[in-house]
Amino acid sequence: MSKTYDLNQKSDFFRGIDIMKNLVKSNIKKLMLKIARHTVFREFPEHSKNQFEQAMMNGSKTKEMPFLHSKVNGSIWPALMPEEQLRSCTTFQTSPDDVFLVTYPKSGTMWLAEIVRCIAQPKDSGKANHIGGTVPMFDFANHEQLETLLSPRYMSTHLPFALVPRSSEHTVKYIYLARNPKDVAVSFFHFMCSAPVFDFDGTWEEFLQYFIKGNLPTGGSYFDHILEWWSHKDDENVLFLKYEDLKKDLKSQVKIIAEFLGFKLSDEKAQAVAEKCTFQAMKSNPNLEVNKFSKVIKKGSHLRKGVVGDWKNHFSNEQLEEFNKLYQSRLKGTGLEFEFQSIAS
Ligand code: A3P
Repeated sequence: MSKTYDLNQKSDFFRGIDIMKNLVKSNIKKLMLKIARHTVFREFPEHSKNQFEQAMMNGSKTKEMPFLHSKVNGSIWPALMPEEQLRSCTTFQTSPDDVFLVTYPKSGTMWLAEIVRCIAQPKDSGKANHIGGTVPMFDFANHEQLETLLSPRYMSTHLPFALVPRSSEHTVKYIYLARNPKDVAVSFFHFMCSAPVFDFDGTWEEFLQYFIKGNLPTGGSYFDHILEWWSHKDDENVLFLKYEDLKKDLKSQVKIIAEFLGFKLSDEKAQAVAEKCTFQAMKSNPNLEVNKFSKVIKKGSHLRKGVVGDWKNHFSNEQLEEFNKLYQSRLKGTGLEFEFQSIAS
């Protein structure tokens, strides 16, 4: 039913102004998105363009959650993942030799993806088990398109343990990459401020509270995510890795990944993959999808610093005290530990 306003009434008059402002704003937004489609998003697949537009138009931002998000069944997700997309993820049919690269956001997903791509697709065979030169991000992908990939399919995901697709025969493989939570929080803060699909409007201090309370658009908290996978670290089809170990000795970790995936890598090949996948090498490779993706980030790049220990430039003493308590309370007795000190690479 349409409501009528009496513009002689002050409250109705100002309400009318607000409505007009919002209309103008949303039309400007639509126009900007149309322009983006033909400029910064020119090289992106149609599905990504549509998703971005949908996220920008339909994602909500509230005073309590000042970042774009979608809410599905009480959990908070990126606006890129509306209900239908999440449903499509949870009903996805796996193939027995699928491989999922699993991370909590900002733990080095693209890094792991590039390592796996270099191991699994060393030569350009003309066929692809990846899309557009990269391992597809399963959560936001067009799932029908994944059907067209050569097997084994490699897909990355941020989904929590309970929602990641699996097969009843337990043949699907999972590589979990964990990163220390302080650097994850810092990396996530910068990303959420600069990625238009989140457009976080707050300070580091505010962000940290969202991280601590597990109220970010990731479907759950960092600690729940990591601990669920940690409890499966000894499963035959799970390989649990740490970002800090990759920083310390990339070549050895490349070998471990290759072996888990069933590839025999010579020492020289492992060395070559490690050299291609250092932070500097990846950052200066214009063909990498991650660098194209950085074009649509407001400030900086997806490959921001790539170090262990940037948290020292962000946490105050009080914040450290609160965070360390949480870290201890969640990880104590689990056997899971992280290194927090910078690692020369
Ligand atoms: P920083 O923001 O701390 O630099 P994700 O891909 O999960 O979003 O993770 C992004 C983080 O991984 C960023 O961290 C990025 O720099 C880091 N990263 C990506 N490639 C890397 C590499 N080759 N070496 C080290 N860190 C890398």
